[in-house]
Amino acid sequence: MKLLEEKIKKDGRVINDNVLKVDSFLNHQIDPQLMNEIGKEFASSFAAEGITKIVTIESSGIAPAVMAGLYMNVPVIFARKRKSITLTDDLLTASVHSFTKNETNELAIAGKYLNENDKVLIIDDFLANGEAALALVKMVKQANASVAGIGIVIEKSFQPGAHKLKEQGLRVESLARIASLSNGEVTFITEKMEELV
Ligand code: G4P
Repeated sequence: MKLLEEKIKKDGRVINDNVLKVDSFLNHQIDPQLMNEIGKEFASSFAAEGITKIVTIESSGIAPAVMAGLYMNVPVIFARKRKSITLTDDLLTASVHSFTKNETNELAIAGKYLNENDKVLIIDDFLANGEAALALVKMVKQANASVAGIGIVIEKSFQPGAHKLKEQGLRVESLARIASLSNGEVTFITEKMEELV
């Protein structure tokens, strides 16, 4: 997605060879116009899939997921990372380890929001090692619902997440795919590079 790549080039900051900071439009301050375009793009990519629900994870997945939900006219559910006093019965759960943050979180979704008739689109802000996405897939399957695909805002293609998900037969659509963050620079995957893979 051209607009997103331009935004990353302009406002993203490469922290090191593995981490891109996008706090000014995605992870802290949010750019609503950009989220709107992102939502539209996900809706058009998955238009043929008969999606009934979107599932994401708090907190940074919520903004792009809500905009996609608006365009697809379906509800958006976010997995909670912390225990909630109101989230008690019939839970779908999974634990997710973040290599970036070196912490493990217990995720939970109330079972009543997903059922066996649901076709779910999973959306998240970053795809790195794929741990978060795989945990969401596991929770959707606990509900006997099906995963129609995974929509990612920024994929770090040099990390193993996308490969792990595709290996499981899952459809992954990433709006920006980063080949490298070396030398303080963002290099995107180009169509030419894809032909070589
Ligand atoms: P994984 O889920 O693909 O395995 O990723 P990983 O454990 O490495 O990432 C854990 C957290 O770090 C996630 O956010 C993910 O979005 C974020 N993250 C991973 N790589 C980057 C990066 O290069 N830049 C930024 N800005 N974030 C990255 P989270 O803990 O769920 O945080 P949030 O959603 O509450 O913001």
